[in-house]
Amino acid sequence: MIKPNRLLVADDDPINRRILVRSLEKAGYEIVEASTGLEALEQALEHLPDLILLDIGMPGRNGFEVCEALKSQPETADRPVIFITSKSQAKDVERAFSVGASDYVTKPMHLQEVKARVSVHLGLRRAKEELRASHLQLLQAQKLESIGQLAAGVAHEINTPTQYVSDNTRFLEEAFGDLVELLDKITGLVHADEDGDTATLKASISSAMKVADLKYLLEEVPRSLEQSIDGLGRIAEIIRAMKEFSHPGTKEVAPVDIHRAIESTMTVASNEWKYVAAIETDFAPNLPQVPCALGDLNQVVLNLIVNAAHAIGERISTGDFEKGLITITTREVGEWVEICVSDTGGGIPEEIRDRVFDPFFTTKEVGKGTGQGLAMAHSTIVDAHGGSINLQSVLGEGSTFTIRLPFSQGYVGEAA
Ligand SMILES: Nc1ncnc2c1ncn2[C@@H]1O[C@H](COP(=O)(O)OP(=O)(O)OP(=O)(O)O)[C@@H](O)[C@H]1O
Ligand SMILES: [Mg+2]
Repeated sequence: MIKPNRLLVADDDPINRRILVRSLEKAGYEIVEASTGLEALEQALEHLPDLILLDIGMPGRNGFEVCEALKSQPETADRPVIFITSKSQAKDVERAFSVGASDYVTKPMHLQEVKARVSVHLGLRRAKEELRASHLQLLQAQKLESIGQLAAGVAHEINTPTQYVSDNTRFLEEAFGDLVELLDKITGLVHADEDGDTATLKASISSAMKVADLKYLLEEVPRSLEQSIDGLGRIAEIIRAMKEFSHPGTKEVAPVDIHRAIESTMTVASNEWKYVAAIETDFAPNLPQVPCALGDLNQVVLNLIVNAAHAIGERISTGDFEKGLITITTREVGEWVEICVSDTGGGIPEEIRDRVFDPFFTTKEVGKGTGQGLAMAHSTIVDAHGGSINLQSVLGEGSTFTIRLPFSQGYVGEAA
């Protein structure tokens, strides 16, 4: 059975309240009542009604004050409030909306109208909740998609060195086989009797030396070993970066080595940028650790790098140049660390600069972007870390995104 919606009816006039309550109960709602402002607040907290009908002129705390209090406490902030009142002046209506009311009905009320408005606002609240839930799902899906995309890139990155380490190992195996044959023959000569046929043995050693191509092996084996050690080092580096990038438990705020985080993210994302750009870093020396949630910071840096690479890629496709440049710099600015990600892409047109941080704003085709990256970056940096994120862009020259994070979580100054 579907649970009925619960409404709070707050009115100090018992007759008015009775009429309203009876009519709403008949319509199938569950009702909680209050006759003063204070009681309304207590009932709201205790019963968490889905919607609140509020009179303005009540003893103690009036309706405006009650509405303000309801909107300021997280448990009740999202519950719609409808004022039902005999105060009908424009300034009262305006005040009601300014303290967070969803609607306003003047007395004498028409019960049919009140019920219709209640039903509309309950529907809106449900729709908002559904939207919030699907937004969360979408964020999760987008994160998974970006992890999937990264995983494909990382697989490719690991595959290349694996390929040549494997080729080199096969070559070393063959070379070792030839050398073993040669060694066998040399051992034969060493152990041959004084009067044995050493001339024949020497001739077979000489031909085995030719087969093994000693001169070539002496040059190629060390090179091949060196290349393989490099390749294995590269694989180990990618795996370390991947582990650091997606380390579980990095949602918690803890001191972070920002440079290491940026470098890991660059490595993990290298398949996204290396075909279109070089990355240069210019890091502040002796930068202190910064308190932040590593996993979230990595996501932000990742999105800025991917955005930069896309902007450069677009410019390359129009034939402007063959390879662009992404520059990542860090600086200490008083109480803040500043991280700048600049690109030589086409820049962001003035008319959309205000909108790039909006959720779902994208200029990219389906499959290439969902418009969530900068919205997530904004909420991570500004809402969760008390920092700031700004953008400068010159059309035809490129863009720079500047993040500021406080060195101390307790710092409450304004980020520039
Ligand atoms: N470095 C940049 N250069 C040019 N335009 C940019 C740059 N960064 C962002 N933009 C613009 O801002 C829009 C929003 O960026 P955002 O990262 O939020 O979403 P997206 O990259 O389109 O998609 P998603 O990040 O979800 O894959 C982009 O579609 C692009 O138009
Ligand atoms: Mg993006």
